[in-house]
Amino acid sequence: MKDINYEQIEQVLLTDTKTWLITGVAGFIGSNLLETLLKLNQKVIGLDNFATGYQKNLDEVQSLVSAAQWQNFSFIEGDIRKSDDCHQACVGVDYVLHQAALGSVPRSIADPIATNETNISGFLNMLTAARDAKVLSFTYAASSSTYGDHPALPKVEDAIGKPLSPYAVTKYVNELYAEVFARTYGFESIGLRYFNVFGRRQDPEGAYAAVIPKWTAAMIAGDDVYINGDGETSRDFCYIDNTVQANILAAVTRNPEAKDQVYNVAVGDRTTLNELFKAIKTALADNSIVYNKQPVYREFRVGDVKHSQADISKIKTLLGYNPKFVIKDGIANAMPWYVSFSG
Ligand SMILES: NC(=O)c1ccc[n+]([C@@H]2O[C@H](COP(=O)([O-])OP(=O)(O)OC[C@H]3O[C@@H](n4cnc5c(N)ncnc54)[C@H](O)[C@@H]3O)[C@@H](O)[C@H]2O)c1
Repeated sequence: MKDINYEQIEQVLLTDTKTWLITGVAGFIGSNLLETLLKLNQKVIGLDNFATGYQKNLDEVQSLVSAAQWQNFSFIEGDIRKSDDCHQACVGVDYVLHQAALGSVPRSIADPIATNETNISGFLNMLTAARDAKVLSFTYAASSSTYGDHPALPKVEDAIGKPLSPYAVTKYVNELYAEVFARTYGFESIGLRYFNVFGRRQDPEGAYAAVIPKWTAAMIAGDDVYINGDGETSRDFCYIDNTVQANILAAVTRNPEAKDQVYNVAVGDRTTLNELFKAIKTALADNSIVYNKQPVYREFRVGDVKHSQADISKIKTLLGYNPKFVIKDGIANAMPWYVSFSG
């Protein structure tokens, strides 16, 4: 599928308005999808219950788009655990981007039932509502945690191991339900296995913050930065704009072979936590923030995998994905937002 070109898809969307539903729209990834789609003159319905998302994320998007573009957004404060809310949100929708979930491995270990209710029952409600509304496509946030204890690197979609946390179980069950809905009802969807997404509006606060916003906020405040393990744990960190691109490509694809599939969404690189520490420190220095402390090493965290790196050939071939940002560029882009957030 060499002919797929993301820039051309953006050009088409600018003059061809469709209606999108983003669940989890007030969260990190959801609010970035919202920003891009509104800038492309699309109509967007957003669903969120503010469990981990914020009104301030929506306010920030409003400040970044034109008044006319903002008029294309309607927000439903609702809960994917309620079937009625899901059905209401799907009315008149062409494309669903399902992002709402309780993220974080440690949160799921602390409260597996809450994670299960949102990530499995909520997912099933959304899948059913989207099927009933006969939407054109359903794209959902899957996760690299599905690779579990499988040792192979890089990770290829078909080779998964046993899940290492309740969170990983829920994301794997999403994939199973999606597959069964294709087989049973002919309702085909696309799952995007995100690998450590980062960027503006990713929450730096709270016990379950992701590593990049957490460390950045700690360095800006001059606090200690904790590394779980020896720092040689590695991840395929993926800048948010790459993730947004993957979602749009998945939603609009007309390639029949691309449907009813899961894809890795990453860059195909591997960065250790020790390297990440240095990269954030350097990017902050470029923003006139000097951090002089060394990281504090502590125990490995239960449920975490040691190494993660994606093979992204499948998404490149079938969806035409072409990640524009490697980790260094993404960190450089995101830093000014974190600096102003903390200021
Ligand atoms: N950020 C990553 O690195 C990453 C990696 C793999 C998978 N994911 C998945 O991507 C999706 C988005 O993650 P994120 O990083 O933007 O997290 P986030 O916490 O910023 O966003 C999730 C959003 O879903 C909303 N939500 C939660 N429960 C809800 C419910 N019951 N009803 C309605 N809304 C609800 C939250 O309020 C929040 O706005 C999630 O499905 C997550 O599991 C993220």
